[in-house]
Amino acid sequence: GIILLDFGSQYNQLIARRIRELGVYSEVLPFNTPLADILERKPSGIILSGGPSSVNVENARLVERSLFEQEIPVLGICYGMQLLTHMLGGKVKKGNKGEYGKATLEIIKSSALLSGVGRFSTVWMSHFDEVQEVPAGFAINAQTDVISSVSDEKKKIYGVQFHPEVSHTEEGARMIENFVFGICKAPKNWKLTNYIDKTVAEIKEKVGDQKVILGLSGGVDSSVAAVLIHKAIGDQLQCIFVDTGLLRKDEAEKVMTNYGEHFQLKIKLIDAKRRFMSKLEGVADPEEKRKIIGNEFVAVFDEESHKIEGAKFLAQGTIYPDVIESQSVKGPSAVIKSHHNVGGLPEEMDFKLLEPLRELFKDEVRKVGEELGIPHHLVHRHPFPGPGLGIRILGEVSEEKVEILQQADDIFIEELYKNNLYEQVSQAFVVLLPVKSVGVMGDERTYEYTAVVRSANTIDFMTATFSKFPWEFLEKVSNRIINEVRGINRVTYDISSKPPATIEWE
Ligand code: XMP
Repeated sequence: GIILLDFGSQYNQLIARRIRELGVYSEVLPFNTPLADILERKPSGIILSGGPSSVNVENARLVERSLFEQEIPVLGICYGMQLLTHMLGGKVKKGNKGEYGKATLEIIKSSALLSGVGRFSTVWMSHFDEVQEVPAGFAINAQTDVISSVSDEKKKIYGVQFHPEVSHTEEGARMIENFVFGICKAPKNWKLTNYIDKTVAEIKEKVGDQKVILGLSGGVDSSVAAVLIHKAIGDQLQCIFVDTGLLRKDEAEKVMTNYGEHFQLKIKLIDAKRRFMSKLEGVADPEEKRKIIGNEFVAVFDEESHKIEGAKFLAQGTIYPDVIESQSVKGPSAVIKSHHNVGGLPEEMDFKLLEPLRELFKDEVRKVGEELGIPHHLVHRHPFPGPGLGIRILGEVSEEKVEILQQADDIFIEELYKNNLYEQVSQAFVVLLPVKSVGVMGDERTYEYTAVVRSANTIDFMTATFSKFPWEFLEKVSNRIINEVRGINRVTYDISSKPPATIEWE
């Protein structure tokens, strides 16, 4: 396959996904992975990614020099192009203004990488430094305001200053194809149906006749993992579903129907509503609520899993982005909220881990899910945070507020589906504010809570914009919530982007 060395660009996962969409296996490794480990994987090609740093600083992020002498094609993107220029004897100068956004690429002298690309095309730039002088043996193939594509065709080393993987680069897909097939001659070896067969065989082999426990949340990853494992070992899989009382409307029932009945998964439903609610009494601080909910979840899960005799394995819906993130050179990004992938189970549990989705991107997990027969709408659900409605009810949580919020949220989601908007947005939900305001209904004065309708569009959940819905749609949602939900008499729409706001309100 194609190996992508990660220098910290936010687009890296996108490149690997694009390549896999072409049917070619692609793997993301930290930039400082020893060359020997890279070669062991017998890559057809290597991509050096973009990244936030400069080659001109002390301790710049480099690769082993001999990487360029392996007769393996190399493509440097953005920082990657600057890096190969710098390491092979060219010059990279500190940019004084940088370029960000769309630019026009002009081809001066085509290359195998640019084959079939018109003389002028739009590309997406995002850089500060720029290549000033190419290394000996290199040609300049194309330019924007700066040198934007270089190559040493004899050695099959290519560089582009722009980002071919983002959709704003018109001919980007063609360039990636040129690299993968034309230059690297990579075999088409990546197919999700093969992945299912391979993984089912591996699970059988690994688990034998032992029991496996899985925390089923109803979310995409744990559900697909459960169905996949069930396909391999049937009733040796025991799922545990914890109803925290902070889930979406009728979630427990839906999970029991969708997976318990339709897929015949063995699911133990734990009603822990009371436990969570009593622990949360009087607590208003978001971080404290998160901690309480997280700890309580672990406690409940721990208790229940130990009731299951002879279980040797714990299955988790870890997916490839989690793996990449945990090995990333960026290090854990500053803790703004103590979150992400809750269900964080204690590390000292004496189970062996089973993570059958570790190699898959989210869109691949969805395809595998559909391939396994899980309905489309279930594998395309939005993500839902571990602490659930606990952080969507601002301030202190109560049973009454949970019920109000569940109803409002359900109306919003239903309307999104009805209007074919659900899959156009990345995450949508309602937030309940501890703010009461005056309203009038019929002839009566009301004094009730305020709901916030929130919807975000994002690729990576690190940055996001609010969804620009038609007014008529928002009007419908607002009318329905105010008319149908007792306890809410005012609906607002959140028009904040991230940053500086976050997607959730707590
Ligand atoms: P923010 O609010 O930080 O959220 O923009 C980004 C993404 O993370 C989810 N999120 C959480 N997920 N536990 C989770 O498992 C949490 O405590 C948590 N807080 C936020 C949020 O839903 C969004 O998808």
